[in-house]
Amino acid sequence: MWAINLRIIGVVLGTLALYTLIANKIPQVQSEVPHALTLGANVTPEQLTSAGDQLYHGAGGCTACHGLGTRAPNLLTDEKGQGPVGARCGKREAGKDCKAYLYESLTSPRAYVVAGYEPIMPEMGRILSPQQIWALVAFLESNGGTVDVTASDIPAASAAGGPGAPGAATAAGIAGGSTDPMTMVRGAGCTGCHKINGEGGAIGPDLTHVGSRLSANLIRESILLPDAKTAKGYEKFKGVMPKTFGHQFTAEQLEALVQFLAGHK
Ligand code: HEC
Ligand code: HEC
Repeated sequence: MWAINLRIIGVVLGTLALYTLIANKIPQVQSEVPHALTLGANVTPEQLTSAGDQLYHGAGGCTACHGLGTRAPNLLTDEKGQGPVGARCGKREAGKDCKAYLYESLTSPRAYVVAGYEPIMPEMGRILSPQQIWALVAFLESNGGTVDVTASDIPAASAAGGPGAPGAATAAGIAGGSTDPMTMVRGAGCTGCHKINGEGGAIGPDLTHVGSRLSANLIRESILLPDAKTAKGYEKFKGVMPKTFGHQFTAEQLEALVQFLAGHK
């Protein structure tokens, strides 16, 4: 009897081990999801700073460009003798204090482009919730400056779970869930980096004829796991494309976008 029991246990353990192995082979797209911030009306500057720290080093994707020395300015360490970002943020633009400048840097990076760099920074307000943006501002201020972000900076709608609340982009999808391809392409900021039909930037490959280079499957992979393969000639820009689109588009949106791009022969 115990021999049979042992054999059953053996089969169960073997099966478990096999599935664990398979599970570990499946790309963990979900693990990169920016943590929904559940910071209530009484959030403290310390809580914001620590949430911003996690975002900066994790799902916010900032370290794909910042801290490497060439692609983007150093933020946590000295930049060209001007100190870390918290020390120089108040001196960038006349009439903008540190908090206003950092908020602008994240939500409209093209409004002021630091001399010596290309305007490649994505508009983070399209990717992150207002709470996450303010958490990042607090964290950046804490690097060499004084944190003056408070709960009152965060719009009430986001604290109450309205549009723009953490997770709202995931639930509703980019561009309010529209499945119109160009609305999605513009809403997600793809045209900030890619040209399509003559519209958009030149940081990534022109997507006008992407369907003749890549199958629908490879296009889907390029959007969900941008670092899995790097487009030829763009090795220098590996890591620049945000890795967050998999959680921002609904499944329906993603399919509509992939088919639209695959049709661009
Ligand atoms: C695709 C590359 C890229 C990513 C990703 C990126 N940035 Fe940037 N960022 C830049 C570049 C390049 C500049 C300098 C040019 C400019 O001002 O737009 C910059 C400028 C900035 C500045 C202004 C710095 C100064 O010295 O005035 C701040 C603040 C900033 N980024 C914060 C962030 C944060 C926080 C994240 C993550 C949520 C992030 N960036 C993600 C490329 C990037
Ligand atoms: C911040 C800049 C940036 C944004 C925003 C961006 N991309 Fe990219 N993308 C790149 C870069 C750079 C590459 C080339 C390097 C690589 O393959 O990772 C690329 C590669 C690609 C490729 C592979 C192209 C080829 O010829 O192999 C596709 C497809 C693509 N992006 C689609 C999109 C779509 C769709 C969006 C919007 C949902 C988007 N990208 C947003 C920068 C960006």
